[in-house]
Amino acid sequence: RYVYVNGEFVEAENARISIFDRGFLFADGVYEVTAVLNGRMIDFAPHLQRLRSSLAKLDMTLEMDDAAIEDLHQGLITRNRVENGVVYIQVTRGVAERDFAYPSDAEPTVIAFTQPRDYFGDRNAETGVKVVTTPDLRWVRRDIKSIALLPQAMGKQEAKKRGAYEAWMVEDGLVTEGTSSSAFIVTQEGVIVTRALGREILPGLTRSRLLSLIEEEKLPVDQRPFSVEEAVAAREAFLTSASSFVLPVVSINDYPVGDGEPGPIARRLRARYLDFAT
Ligand code: PDD
Repeated sequence: RYVYVNGEFVEAENARISIFDRGFLFADGVYEVTAVLNGRMIDFAPHLQRLRSSLAKLDMTLEMDDAAIEDLHQGLITRNRVENGVVYIQVTRGVAERDFAYPSDAEPTVIAFTQPRDYFGDRNAETGVKVVTTPDLRWVRRDIKSIALLPQAMGKQEAKKRGAYEAWMVEDGLVTEGTSSSAFIVTQEGVIVTRALGREILPGLTRSRLLSLIEEEKLPVDQRPFSVEEAVAAREAFLTSASSFVLPVVSINDYPVGDGEPGPIARRLRARYLDFAT
């Protein structure tokens, strides 16, 4: 399998990164995960835009232009013959003597790789997934797609231990989002609810695309926080991400959501999203 490191495509075992890279020492870097469906990337332009925005918020400058970044994605998809999967790209501030303040002369380190995914055979789409809740232990700039992901790893591990697919993180009694996905509910009145954008959550691009599709479907939406109690009492729940697309949530902390089966709106929106993406 080929990976990309600082301008070159190399076999994964030949890739080398310095132990002084600030990504390694400080998690001083940002990343993107873009889905590939039938050999084509979904919504690449907004991923590029979010990458630029994350970099800018951390005062990082990347000399590569948009075309070069797209080329490296395409280069990996072609070389690794990715039909269905994801491309991961990571940009760190680069290699420097260890010092907390930003170095003035470091060159950003850019690495990328692909992972296959079986989107069409995803059983979770049929059965729905379980979610548990856990305190949101993250920092306050969750709008930046930073590679500092320890709270998310801890949350996902807790979910796994409790037999769930995802953990929804909770702050002041309200759900922020999943450890690697955006969170939605459908109220008993049929209103689709998801948290509004802000520093409290990552601006999910699947979320954003789905909101446009929901608008086309003329379904009612309210962008506001919701509590765990409201989610458990909801008619439906679902989550979205580049790697999961849209997945129905059938239980929260082992309480069934609705009748405990994937809901009609979640199913319809998954189908709508796949339709858009293929
Ligand atoms: N995670 N919220 C968080 C905290 C995320 O990490 C992600 C994505 C999302 C969904 O964003 P999008 O729809 O743009 O993928 C929401 C990626 C997939 C990951 O870390 O692997």
